[in-house]
Amino acid sequence: MLAGQLDTLAREAARLKPLHLRDLLAAPGRFEQFSRRAGPLLLDFSRQKLDEPALQALGAIAQQCGWQQRRDAMFRGDVLNSSEQRPVLHTALRAGESQRPSPAPAEVSDEIARTLQRMGELVDALERGDAGAYGIPAGITDVVNLGIGGSDLGPRLAVEALAGYHSGRFRCHFLPNVDGHEIAALMRRLDPRKTLVLLVSKSFTTQETLLNGAVLRQWIAQAYAGDEARAASHFVAVSANVAAAQALGIPPERVLPMWDFVGGRYSVWSAVGLVLALAIGMPNFRAFLRGAALMDDHFRSADWRDNLPVLLALIGVWNRNGLGYAAHGVIPYLDALSELPAFLQQLEMESLGKRVSADGGELSQATVPVVWGSVGTNAQHAFFQALHQGSDVVPLDLIGAVRPAHALRDNHEALLANLLAQGAAFALGKTRDEALAEATRGSDAEREALAAQRTFPGDRPSSTLLLDALTPESLGALIALYEHKVVVQALLWDINAFDQWGVELGKVLAKSILPALAGSAATESFDASTRGLIATIRALT
Ligand code: F6P
Repeated sequence: MLAGQLDTLAREAARLKPLHLRDLLAAPGRFEQFSRRAGPLLLDFSRQKLDEPALQALGAIAQQCGWQQRRDAMFRGDVLNSSEQRPVLHTALRAGESQRPSPAPAEVSDEIARTLQRMGELVDALERGDAGAYGIPAGITDVVNLGIGGSDLGPRLAVEALAGYHSGRFRCHFLPNVDGHEIAALMRRLDPRKTLVLLVSKSFTTQETLLNGAVLRQWIAQAYAGDEARAASHFVAVSANVAAAQALGIPPERVLPMWDFVGGRYSVWSAVGLVLALAIGMPNFRAFLRGAALMDDHFRSADWRDNLPVLLALIGVWNRNGLGYAAHGVIPYLDALSELPAFLQQLEMESLGKRVSADGGELSQATVPVVWGSVGTNAQHAFFQALHQGSDVVPLDLIGAVRPAHALRDNHEALLANLLAQGAAFALGKTRDEALAEATRGSDAEREALAAQRTFPGDRPSSTLLLDALTPESLGALIALYEHKVVVQALLWDINAFDQWGVELGKVLAKSILPALAGSAATESFDASTRGLIATIRALT
């Protein structure tokens, strides 16, 4: 950000510092002024430590940065991922469901439409139990999604969130990690002859995915007396590296492409979502795309004041660079969204976890906060103590659905009451005088001590996101909302949100450590800690 923009944030933060959120929330019309709707989502940001002048100042920064131009460049397919020289066109994956004409290049739209068509045909064939034309044996009951990071988190989030929409035709499993305990347990539970493996890897070079693929292939081959070809018939691949997938013996009709213009963490809308389509069926998968397209249309048309992704990005920048908060919590009040914090961790921290700009210059402001969280109300009984009374302030996104997918009214009202109560408690707190009035026993000193411990400072910001109900559409809209938030925040911070060089070093080191661990390579070149740990492991194995 420019020095002048940081000065503006500092000035606004200093102006608002003496005001407590209690004061801000007491202003007439506060909710109406600081809440917005887009389709099935309501964003209430009245509990953010903002007033109209601060919001105007933030909006002016977004305008100065040219957020509309950046947005339009993305939808058009300009090369936004400069370090890899790639366009960023995940929005084109759902453009077929949009109300607005797609500005994406025609050849991209055609390729996407063809792939979606192929994916739909494969899903239909598998649902009918008649995928012989693909070389897939009959009787598939279980589907294993083999993939990690973006090839796991989005599909896993959506499959779990939309459990109410599962057709029940297949049981779906996820195997991201290379931890052998998981794969061993899965192989104990499943029947290899009835298992379909989706090998999902954009690069098709990811160690975890390829290793797990080899293990499952051997397991299936054993069920066919070592017949490799029959084992291969249980595999479908999704990759941007189609040649590598085919080299593993997976024929073209069972390889669905994805593309360099779609980042892994933005890819659930592509064939990476195959496991989701198998879980909920193609009509629901299309409804999921429709929800995202609705958010795309909103992002493309709404003024910044009403634009949910822009507002979320501005709030993110305000909390990080204006108020100086280094963490951000995501608390869904819906067990179905329990994977949302993990999904957003990758989306936000892999996209925005940078300290230099695309031209290599050191950034002048702090960037991504630590994103973390877990479901309410469980979280209330675990770490909310620290959020209410600890020394650090963690702004939160509290997320809920108005209408549940069950008839247990008391449960749902209790859940929503907790959601609303927590946001209020974080904002309002409890003053020392209020706490003292409650402390009726003991000496004055004892009452004072107790009151101090029972005081809540409050003034802790949160946004509330209410979905009308958790449906394929609203989930699609919610995920797309956060995707666009990240894109705008990256622009404000002058970051390339679409590369992830920071994950490479560890991968390279792991490759060099592997032979040393196995005892077939020397360890001298490693640091003292690595050498010592290798020796310890070797001595015990
Ligand atoms: O290591 C990080 C990463 O490259 C992520 O960006 C990506 O989502 C994940 O690995 C999986 O990559 P792939 O789909 O190529 O296997």
